[in-house]
Amino acid sequence: MASSIQHHLFILLSLIATASAATSFQPKGLLLPLTKEASTLQYIVKTTQRTPSKSVLLTLSLGSPFLWQDCDRGYVSSTYRPARCNSAQCTLAESIACGTCNSPRRPGCNNNTCGLFPENPFTNTATGGELASDVVRINSTDGSNLGRVVTVPNFLFNCAPTFLLKGLAKGVQGIAGFGMSKISIPSQLTSTFNLPNKFALCLTSDVTSVGVIFFGNGPYRLYPGELYVPSSLQYTPILTNPNASSEYYIGVNSIKIGNSEVPINKALLSINNQGNGGTKISTIHPYTIMESSIYKAVTSYFDVQLKKFYQDRNYPNATRINAVAPFGLCYDGNTIRSTRVGLEVPNIELVLQNDKVVWTLFASNSMVRGLKANPNAVCLAIVDGGKNPATSIVLGGYQLEDNLLEFDVAKSRLGFRYLVNDMTRCSCCD
Ligand SMILES: *[C@@H]1O[C@H](CO)[C@@H](O)[C@H](O)[C@H]1NC(C)=O
Ligand SMILES: *[C@@H]1O[C@H](CO)[C@@H](O)[C@H](O)[C@H]1NC(C)=O
Ligand SMILES: *[C@@H]1O[C@H](CO)[C@@H](O)[C@H](O)[C@H]1NC(C)=O
Ligand SMILES: *[C@@H]1O[C@H](CO)[C@@H](O)[C@H](O)[C@H]1NC(C)=O
Repeated sequence: MASSIQHHLFILLSLIATASAATSFQPKGLLLPLTKEASTLQYIVKTTQRTPSKSVLLTLSLGSPFLWQDCDRGYVSSTYRPARCNSAQCTLAESIACGTCNSPRRPGCNNNTCGLFPENPFTNTATGGELASDVVRINSTDGSNLGRVVTVPNFLFNCAPTFLLKGLAKGVQGIAGFGMSKISIPSQLTSTFNLPNKFALCLTSDVTSVGVIFFGNGPYRLYPGELYVPSSLQYTPILTNPNASSEYYIGVNSIKIGNSEVPINKALLSINNQGNGGTKISTIHPYTIMESSIYKAVTSYFDVQLKKFYQDRNYPNATRINAVAPFGLCYDGNTIRSTRVGLEVPNIELVLQNDKVVWTLFASNSMVRGLKANPNAVCLAIVDGGKNPATSIVLGGYQLEDNLLEFDVAKSRLGFRYLVNDMTRCSCCD
């Protein structure tokens, strides 16, 4: 008798255990694929959302605070929920606006709903839009293998009108905001699954292959057998700008080319109390942008160091050619030497918090070739940002590609590693 009760109790407990395992499955990490779009050079993430499930493409914006998408055209979902004014969701999103809508009710148009101001960072256009939640589905990973698809039932995002899509790649329906905010994509995904608030970005340089963003803990698998553990990265503190609090800044202390320091006005390298200056990381600019005086110093120093580099090796001099917009420093591609691993040019070193922590830009991140206007040109992939830009150095997409960048928001640090020297590139998933 007693054993029979125990037996039933055991079965009951097993059933409860199985049921709760199904609902509280704990992924170690999550991953999203991303591609590079050839004509706009935007990085595009493919999300799966709504009910019934639909693939929605969004342009990655590292520093934007939240996901926004077009709700005016073709938003159909039975799980769409507007965020009611004064709800916990509005508080989390730090919404201060409470709105009404005079058009017929639909996603993006509901009464008594709080709103945010979605911004298109490519056109610097912003407008008002409804805060809402819907279902998001995403692949999980155990660190080395793709796991099951997990569901975020109430993912918060902002609705935007169709006109805000201007400037985004064809087929894209909004912006994937990865910035430092409580409702950014990484913050919501990691908090839903109790993962540490961090993500690792691997931007592909190849428009035909697929890059990846990992959320949560490493190790990060790029190819079978190739695992990156956090200990194989270099780290630098993530700095914040009170005027642009969702953007990721890092502290570049000096720039070296060919092992010697480029003379620049160092005051420009720190963020002043108006929020100007400093170095930020951006995926919306395809190439690094430098304030004019830094740009001039870096390009002329690079030219001098390249000459020296070639003379030291008894190579014929590289021949400068006319600028190819948007770049200023270009060479005849036939006079730039190359090896199996890439072009032979001096490295550009961004010296960070001390002389031992250096972000090195090797040729694959510093030189660009195959430009439409002059396919034979090889140019330094840096653009003149003019006088008095808000930010002195914006590290753009080209300089980030094929590097594993771990944005550890919880620990306020950025981990980085150049993969090409390991014979690896940012490419995953299929
Ligand atoms: C919002 O409320 C106003 C006033 O009651 C009403 O005219 C309007 O149709 C409502 N809009 C929606 C989208 O329900
Ligand atoms: C999960 O990954 C597989 C394989 O890459 C892919 O086919 C599928 O669409 C992904 N699912 C989601 C929800 O992203
Ligand atoms: C940054 O914020 C401060 C204080 O809010 C303001 O005075 C200043 O003009 C802002 N600077 C920029 C560049 O937005
Ligand atoms: C390269 O240029 C330097 C002057 O900048 C010149 O002295 C040298 O002879 C040139 N070398 C070759 C191989 O053309």
